[in-house]
Amino acid sequence: MRKYGMPRRAIAAALFSAALLAAAATGCHSTPPPKPLDQLTEAESLGHSVFATRCAACHYDRINQPLHGPALLGVYKKPYLPSGAPANDERVTATILHGRNMMPAQQNVDGADLTNLLAYLHTL
Ligand code: HEC
Repeated sequence: MRKYGMPRRAIAAALFSAALLAAAATGCHSTPPPKPLDQLTEAESLGHSVFATRCAACHYDRINQPLHGPALLGVYKKPYLPSGAPANDERVTATILHGRNMMPAQQNVDGADLTNLLAYLHTL
């Protein structure tokens, strides 16, 4: 009898964690909120300014709504970019430098600006 008590609870816990993981992986409203602006490091804060001048005309960063391009809220908290490419620095950098479909290349975002911008995107 006792044999079945604990395992069932363990299975329920495992199923619950699996559901949480699945929810996190599929995105939607399940990603944790972005780091508050007043808690950004210096690099992240500089990246926020780069975002404001170079990206904000086409992307929302802190709300989950498309503008001209998809929202970048939680961009690194989901496994894939909207296109289905893996959400990593390499792909995001390539998107910025080379553009993608209706997104024009942002060729002069480079050096420290690019590093800081990526740091900011990681806080979203
Ligand atoms: C003139 C408008 C415009 C600007 C400026 C712009 N984007 Fe985009 N962006 C778009 C559009 C449109 C898409 C959707 C492209 C597609 O997949 O068809 C997009 C897509 C993306 C994607 C998703 C790529 C993928 O693989 O799904 C990322 C990440 C991104 N932009 C980041 C940025 C960043 C960071 C900046 C600022 C340096 C920026 N964008 C500036 C319009 C813009």
